[in-house]
Amino acid sequence: MKTTNLLRLAATSLVSLAATLRYDLPFVQPRNRIECPSAETILKELKPLLSAQAEILIPSSPGWNKSSLRASSPRIQPQFQAVVEVASTKDNTPGRTDRDWLMRQTQIRYANRIGAPFLAVSGTHGWPLSLNTLKGGIQISLRKMNDSKVHPDGKTATVQGGTLQYEATKSLYSQGKKMAVTGLCECVSVAGPLLGGGHSMLQENHGFAADNLISAELVLANGSVVLVSSSENTDLFWAIRGAGHNFGIVTSMELKVYDAQDNWTMLTFVFTHDKLESYFSTWNQLESEYENVVGLPVVNGLFARNPDVDTANPVVILQVFFPGTNPIAGVYKQRFLALGPVVNVTTPDIEYVDLYTVGGLGMSSPVCREDNNLAGFPNSHAKWDPDAMRAGFNIFSELTADPTFNTSAWILESYGRHGVTAVAPSENAVAPEERQFHLLNSPLLWWVGNDEGDRKKAVEYGRRMQKAVGPKDRALFHAYVNYAVGTEALPEIYGRDSSRLARLERLKKTYDPLNRFGFYNPIV
Ligand SMILES: Cc1cc2nc3c(=O)[nH]c(=O)nc-3n(C[C@H](O)[C@H](O)[C@H](O)COP(=O)(O)OP(=O)(O)OC[C@H]3O[C@@H](n4cnc5c(N)ncnc54)[C@H](O)[C@@H]3O)c2cc1C
Ligand SMILES: *[C@@H]1O[C@H](CO)[C@@H](O)[C@H](O)[C@H]1NC(C)=O
Ligand SMILES: *[C@@H]1O[C@H](CO)[C@@H](O)[C@H](O)[C@H]1NC(C)=O
Ligand SMILES: *[C@@H]1O[C@H](CO)[C@@H](O)[C@H](O)[C@H]1NC(C)=O
Ligand SMILES: *[C@@H]1O[C@H](CO)[C@@H](O)[C@H](O)[C@H]1NC(C)=O
Ligand SMILES: *[C@@H]1O[C@H](CO)[C@@H](O)[C@H](O)[C@H]1NC(C)=O
Ligand SMILES: *[C@@H]1O[C@H](CO)[C@@H](O)[C@H](O)[C@H]1NC(C)=O
Repeated sequence: MKTTNLLRLAATSLVSLAATLRYDLPFVQPRNRIECPSAETILKELKPLLSAQAEILIPSSPGWNKSSLRASSPRIQPQFQAVVEVASTKDNTPGRTDRDWLMRQTQIRYANRIGAPFLAVSGTHGWPLSLNTLKGGIQISLRKMNDSKVHPDGKTATVQGGTLQYEATKSLYSQGKKMAVTGLCECVSVAGPLLGGGHSMLQENHGFAADNLISAELVLANGSVVLVSSSENTDLFWAIRGAGHNFGIVTSMELKVYDAQDNWTMLTFVFTHDKLESYFSTWNQLESEYENVVGLPVVNGLFARNPDVDTANPVVILQVFFPGTNPIAGVYKQRFLALGPVVNVTTPDIEYVDLYTVGGLGMSSPVCREDNNLAGFPNSHAKWDPDAMRAGFNIFSELTADPTFNTSAWILESYGRHGVTAVAPSENAVAPEERQFHLLNSPLLWWVGNDEGDRKKAVEYGRRMQKAVGPKDRALFHAYVNYAVGTEALPEIYGRDSSRLARLERLKKTYDPLNRFGFYNPIV
């Protein structure tokens, strides 16, 4: 059994995505849509408005195909007439705007004027089906805006709106070994997860990524640029931390940063599936025994196929991560070893900056693959139900016996409770349920190509798995907004507290009355 194989398997952990409860999405026509100009018109009219560093691509441009690849294409494929890659650099060419914020503002005004729908993208890993309702629009890529700068106080940093996790992690670490609370996969952006909450290995101590936002520069639907923070535009500041994909384009964020803890340890265990019940009851037992201990290890599990271990069934994998020394990690190790893993590996002394690559979440890991259909069917829980997980596993095993789906994985995530419950739910728009149900799980189905039969099969099995492990009482169903497909009922992703939902709707009316930011799990 090769370690590289294990890492590849482990790599498919820690991601997630979407449930499909109402798969036949209604097409949402942007209400103020006038008509789409041709790609050539867009190019001609937009070029003089943008900085020289910005790029505009139309279907005849070299690089067009690459610009429209997404992590989960072709299943998720919004349709664009043009891609605009805005840049943050200043431009002093006479006759052009030399202020980057003005450039961005103009750009969005342009999209507003012609009525073309637009979508901001950073890491292009978003997967809600609602993205497919965008037709003939403009993709505004923020990827050129990817700088991270630690401030002299050493406690905060400015991270630009299009920065990937990988870029922020490397850059902050190189500036005095700092780290910010971002997501786990290197290929995902900083902004995308944060706007919906942001789960990570650091959440046990520091809460959600959104809980660590100090301020943000936001371009609103009407083209204005505003700063949001605890003292400016406080209502928008509340809303973008949890429901942020609905309100504007984030061009930069001021985030809390911490001294990165080095010397992380990763434990990896592989079990054959007959250990499934004891695996989940051990996990439950440890979490209830140490419920009040702050600083528990991060636990990430996975069902995935590995024919080297078992040719007939998926195996059950566990990764445990912790920085420095952690007395309880030793107990975790003993308990899981006692179950008799087929494989157990301890990887010590991992520097923070390498943690994600070593953990199988790096830029070139299977989780970061692109142009591969990806469909998820999430549930959030407070405790595992081993019998339900067995029922789900059996369906997963049946599906992945088909080679088309055999690189799929079922992620089982426990990033920690204490950091997120330390923050009052009223602080921001992250659903209170997100703080309460700390166990995230989702089958992640990967397959290639555009075959309708494959898609139907994935959806049918996915729904069965989601139902098998979900709450008997639908009133208790919750899905993380960034794992959701965008077809769930709003309270199931944004939270059931109706006064919070009403507040979001009011803010939406004020700041985006035409629902220009209405393609990613829209709240209206
Ligand atoms: C491989 C993988 C790993 C993941 N890991 C994690 C994880 O560790 N933690 C976690 O919490 N979630 C994780 N997710 C879910 C993730 O939070 C969402 O998929 C998120 O939308 C991805 O953001 P993106 O920028 O990469 O994708 P994009 O598709 O570029 O963006 C998604 C949406 O965010 C909005 N958006 C993006 N950038 C901006 C911006 N600058 N301003 C305003 N709006 C913007 C747009 O509405 C866009 O449609 C993961 C997903 C995948 C596929
Ligand atoms: C882009 O994709 C289209 C459709 O798949 C294909 O016909 C075309 O040749 C591709 N263009 C380039 C430059 O690769
Ligand atoms: C920003 O992106 C460019 C192009 O991909 C890359 O060369 C550069 O290293 C990135 N900057 C940082 C700080 O990561
Ligand atoms: C845009 O909306 C904001 C928030 O409502 C408002 O403060 C600003 O004046 C508006 N800008 C324009 C140009 O209308
Ligand atoms: C790193 O952590 C391990 C495991 O907890 C511990 O045994 C070791 O002493 C630590 N090493 C350093 C250099 O701190
Ligand atoms: C775990 O791995 C170590 C080192 O390879 C080995 O010595 C030990 O026997 C293993 N323990 C179990 C319970 O498999
Ligand atoms: C998936 O199926 C292909 C084709 O049968 C096979 O070569 C590959 O090893 C399988 N992969 C896994 C993880 O089972």
